[in-house]
Amino acid sequence: VDPSRDQPPSPTPNRPLKLIELRARGRFGSVWKAQLHESYVAVKKFPLHDQQSWNTEQDIYRLPHMNHENILKFIGTERRADNLNIELWLITEFQQYGSLCEYLKGNTISWTEMRKMAESMMRGLSFLHDEVPAICGKGAKPAIAHRDFKSKNVLVKSDLTCCIADFGLALKFEPGKNPGETHGLVGTRRYMAPEVLEGAISFNRDAFLRIDMYACGMVLWELMSRCTAADGPVGEYQLPFEDEIGQHPTLEDMQELVVINKVRPAIKEHWLKHTGLEALASTIEECWDHDAEARLSADCVLERVAYAERSIYT
Ligand code: ADE
Repeated sequence: VDPSRDQPPSPTPNRPLKLIELRARGRFGSVWKAQLHESYVAVKKFPLHDQQSWNTEQDIYRLPHMNHENILKFIGTERRADNLNIELWLITEFQQYGSLCEYLKGNTISWTEMRKMAESMMRGLSFLHDEVPAICGKGAKPAIAHRDFKSKNVLVKSDLTCCIADFGLALKFEPGKNPGETHGLVGTRRYMAPEVLEGAISFNRDAFLRIDMYACGMVLWELMSRCTAADGPVGEYQLPFEDEIGQHPTLEDMQELVVINKVRPAIKEHWLKHTGLEALASTIEECWDHDAEARLSADCVLERVAYAERSIYT
């Protein structure tokens, strides 16, 4: 006789997680370095009012095939009660270098390092955007738009390849199904494509993927701006448009800059004297084109960064 047979199902016990250090705080809540048994993990805490993001993010991580080298590894979720306060936790692999934004603040990168970071990031984004058919007993993976692509949401792994994180705003496009809420001015102002800043009302799958590609152009520019390959000075790390509008742009600032004046982050002249950087600069310009339909797809950018100029090593 199994004595547990007639017991009510008990909730899964919480993991023995020890929070060690606060790593990041933002709109989304906070990210902690934590210890789980013998290894470190990252714990992202969502405030209760943001249960939607916690649900969306785990829903995306749990989709078939999401175990990919260039997508942050998901471990699980927990609901924790801290006195009367309920906290929603999302547990993932911990990456010591933190986000690409943090990494670029502290380090310049060589041509080879930049290629490796750009190629791996594009592998992640291209995988996210692509559908994967059902195979080997696994279901299909739908196309997914990230909707908040930026250097803070790309993490740098210990071998300097990158992985994509933060799927709290992501949308999946399952054939024949409505992707749900698809309106709205969501994402981070600085990285918003002109059509988002203009408040175009509704978008389809391809429109959302193109909005990610605009933001991807900004992140590739951030990488390029910290690369030592060109014959010229490498400035301090700056966010896209930091030179033009500083740290806290309003929506109106961004609309004027990006929609009306069609400004983009500056491509320095000395970058263009390096064959590899020149090619990357034109790829970046094709990512952030004002005309959404003219933008390159993630697959195409991946191909360009992976196969072009492999022989340049400076
Ligand atoms: N910052 C945000 N997510 C992180 C993670 N998984 N590891 C390290 N730093 C992070």
